[in-house]
Amino acid sequence: MCGIVSYVGSEPKAARLLLQGLKSLEYRGYDSSGIALLNDSVKVYKNKGKILDLEKNIYSLSEQEQSEVEQSICGIGHTRWATHGEPNDVNAHPHLDSDASLAIVHNGIIRNYQSLRSELETKGFVFKSDTDTEVIANMFSSIRKELLSINAYEDFKALRELSSRLEGSYALAIIINDSNLNDVTKPVKRILLAKNESPLVIGIGDQENFAASDSDTVLQFTDKIVRLADKELAVISKNTIEIQDFDGNEIKPIIEVLKQNDSIMDKKGYKHFLLKEIYEQPTVLSKMLSLIEDQSFTNFKLMDFQIDFTNIEKVYCIACGSAYHSAQVLKSILGTWAAIPVEVIIASEFNYQVNFLSEKDLVVGISQSGETADTILALQRAKKTGANLLAITNRPASAINNLCGVNTYITPADIEISVASTKAYTSQILAHYLLALQIAVARKALAEEFFNEILHNLKMLPVLIEQTLHRANAYKEQSLNYANYKDFIFLSRGINHVTAMEGALKLKELSYAHATAYPSGELKHGPIAILDENVPVISISIPSKYEDEQVTAEKVIHNALEAKTRKAPSILLTTDSNQDHVSEFDLVVRIPDIDQVFSPILATIPLQFWAYYIAEDLGKDVDQPRNLAKSVTVE
Ligand code: AGP
Repeated sequence: MCGIVSYVGSEPKAARLLLQGLKSLEYRGYDSSGIALLNDSVKVYKNKGKILDLEKNIYSLSEQEQSEVEQSICGIGHTRWATHGEPNDVNAHPHLDSDASLAIVHNGIIRNYQSLRSELETKGFVFKSDTDTEVIANMFSSIRKELLSINAYEDFKALRELSSRLEGSYALAIIINDSNLNDVTKPVKRILLAKNESPLVIGIGDQENFAASDSDTVLQFTDKIVRLADKELAVISKNTIEIQDFDGNEIKPIIEVLKQNDSIMDKKGYKHFLLKEIYEQPTVLSKMLSLIEDQSFTNFKLMDFQIDFTNIEKVYCIACGSAYHSAQVLKSILGTWAAIPVEVIIASEFNYQVNFLSEKDLVVGISQSGETADTILALQRAKKTGANLLAITNRPASAINNLCGVNTYITPADIEISVASTKAYTSQILAHYLLALQIAVARKALAEEFFNEILHNLKMLPVLIEQTLHRANAYKEQSLNYANYKDFIFLSRGINHVTAMEGALKLKELSYAHATAYPSGELKHGPIAILDENVPVISISIPSKYEDEQVTAEKVIHNALEAKTRKAPSILLTTDSNQDHVSEFDLVVRIPDIDQVFSPILATIPLQFWAYYIAEDLGKDVDQPRNLAKSVTVE
């Protein structure tokens, strides 16, 4: 989703640093990019497509234009993920105001942009794009001119007035051309910032300062950051940082020193980040397990959460996409291990249920990026009800961590660069198992023997994942026979419905094939109508030593065979030693033996490979699939 980077310093390196910063924002997903540089005027360079195209366009400018680019010490940059107006050169950011006196980049959505646009048009402002951002540029320009005309212009005053007119979410960076002001009143080169509901951090350097959507972008340049809070404004120059809130109160910058993340943009020899991240899964899970290595039944805790789990009557999990899928595992196991009802709700739908919450509820927000607007807004509303909040994320420097504070579990999955989630997803599932154990132990709902058995099984996961990863070539070969199908159905029941949903999502995201998951019992209630020889059905059936769950596995096979009799190519995903009806399937995909209750992580891995290899075979952009964003920071 949209990303912002800005630089103001004393050396002529703005263009280079902005392009470098934009590259580190690429993973968020974007369709166009651009930079604006401040010299004696404000110049904008932008286009639809990749940052490499932007770079090529800049480096094919005339010699004189290039030297202007290269001497700039101040600028703003942006990767755009289209919300208002199609992805094209004109709608790309930065946007200028009507007379090119300032340039602006924006992340977020302005809800009242249409009425503001009409108001500005009647004042003579002319619009070139369809974006809500150009409205902000002209609105700020209008405010600035009015204040200048009465000698009352001040950056903060103008920003406050701007914020009072905008409804919606925004992170803004603005550069202003003051060359028409006389030398006495002319301010130094600076960047104006505003934040409301979209992420924005300031980076502090030596005689240079930065601002970006993402602390990892800033971390390439400096390890000192200041996190802006919602409803805060800032003005940064090469050696000053001033912050105020929307009411004009001064805010003292709180400087955090972050740990340098040396190699986030390094593929480490893998062809794609996605593949690298798939292979990182055993390491991530091992790290999580090593942190609880010394614990036993009497002192078990994933983390020292400041929540009285004995008092909780209901758990709500809120999340989107893969994080939402992962939460289904918490629902299955917490119900069984601790007899607590769990409801899993898509974050953007949660707001309609907020009235039912009380301090006896636990609301668990799950988000790899920690910045997903739907999830953050739902958590913010939940917080107001007095419900207990708990977050699971892999990003310490994130809005979700800020919101849930000490009750945030940070998985060691670290940043994911590929848009499609893999290691973040499987680490969320392991976090759910460990959280469920902690809650069950706190409520004295588990016998010690059962606890030990669960922990033993969880500790086996990294080795089993390694073994599964060694089968990548087999999964590749199998998947390529299905690369040209356009529709897929994924079936399972019980705890592995989550695996069916995640398998379908991965395939959709990466290969753009249509793929839908159903609980296998639902097949005959409608979806069976679409089956024929063109719709492969991938069924996930993992045996269990527990009778109920074994029956579940058998029922999946029966439903899968109902699909086969409708001529659908039939693929079974199961364990090495399962022989139940396997000869009746067109293809059997195997994972190492594991009991059903612990299988969602392992069973997902062949499906990650299937999606990856099919997408690669079809020549898709594996790490940055079309239309998708890594951090979905708008509702
Ligand atoms: C997963 O592959 C997706 N890219 C997407 O569904 C993602 O899980 C969802 O947008 C939620 O993101 P979050 O975990 O950062 O909140």
